[in-house]
Amino acid sequence: MSRLKKYFIYGCSLSMFLISFLLMIYYGKETFYLEGQLNNKKVYDYHFVLITEEVGNDYWRLIESGAREQALANNVYLEYIGPEQADLKERLNTFDRMIAANVDGIFIQGLPGNRFTYLVEKAKDQSIPVATIDADAPESARNFYVGTDNYQAGYLAGKTLIKHTSGTINIGIIVGSMESLNQQLRLKGLKEAIASVKRIKIISIDESTISEIGAAQATYALLKNNPEINALFGLSALDGIGIVQGVEEMNPSNYPFIVAFDTLPETISLIEKDKIFATVVQYPNQMGRQAIELMLNLKNNQAVDAFNYTNTGVLLKSDITNGGILAKGDPN
Ligand code: BGC
Repeated sequence: MSRLKKYFIYGCSLSMFLISFLLMIYYGKETFYLEGQLNNKKVYDYHFVLITEEVGNDYWRLIESGAREQALANNVYLEYIGPEQADLKERLNTFDRMIAANVDGIFIQGLPGNRFTYLVEKAKDQSIPVATIDADAPESARNFYVGTDNYQAGYLAGKTLIKHTSGTINIGIIVGSMESLNQQLRLKGLKEAIASVKRIKIISIDESTISEIGAAQATYALLKNNPEINALFGLSALDGIGIVQGVEEMNPSNYPFIVAFDTLPETISLIEKDKIFATVVQYPNQMGRQAIELMLNLKNNQAVDAFNYTNTGVLLKSDITNGGILAKGDPN
């Protein structure tokens, strides 16, 4: 055998050895990882999943922290997943994947459309309970809802405007998303609250895609196209903050009357600075805690109400002391 041929054969054998070795390490790791996952199942009593509207959204992080606290206290493995940016299709796909993974319970916002109702049915067929959280879809087969009475919350926002203003009021409204079921209900409540008051009318409605920048841009456009607007509502958690940015950019001669939603720290600070007049309070932390509690009751064959409303209230500057809030009936 020529020396060249020998080197060639040695070279080939060495390469094959190296490839087999690397494959062994790779597949060995995969197998090990799978075992790790299976072990998880043994350690926890249940594996629940909270599908969020937007993974990094501060409001959803509060729901998560309440749920996590309760999960930890009850030996529940809680998975928190969702899109980076609000995306209906992605959430529905995640919902489907979690059903396929055969988890022990799913929390998700009630979503519009047939695919959502179909997936709830599919989960039910596999005995996986589904709870809607933050937004309900009562016509679906979901086991229960936990969250704000969104119609009532919108109604409260409208009543706040009536109570604290006089003269002609022209409203601009920013909603998180038109397709969102809780936004639709808040809008309905708000419209019905002001319906009989002649001095108040709605001029225009736009979307923020639940982002601060989206709310700022929408506000700027609303004020530019409708200079008569002198009141603004933000119906999801980051809208009030974005509205203030949009207003400051536009710099109208009369600062509008602003009503926001939720009590994120920046909203509170803008109320303290007299930029936002009031905010409608929700209790996301409580929603998360209660969701886990109720799901566990269901697992233990206890009866669970179909509607579990968390508190709602209106927060004004006089309810804030040094950044802390003193909302009436605060259950936290
Ligand atoms: C709503 C949530 C929404 C969030 C967006 C809250 O007011 O209840 O549905 O995801 O705002 O920031």
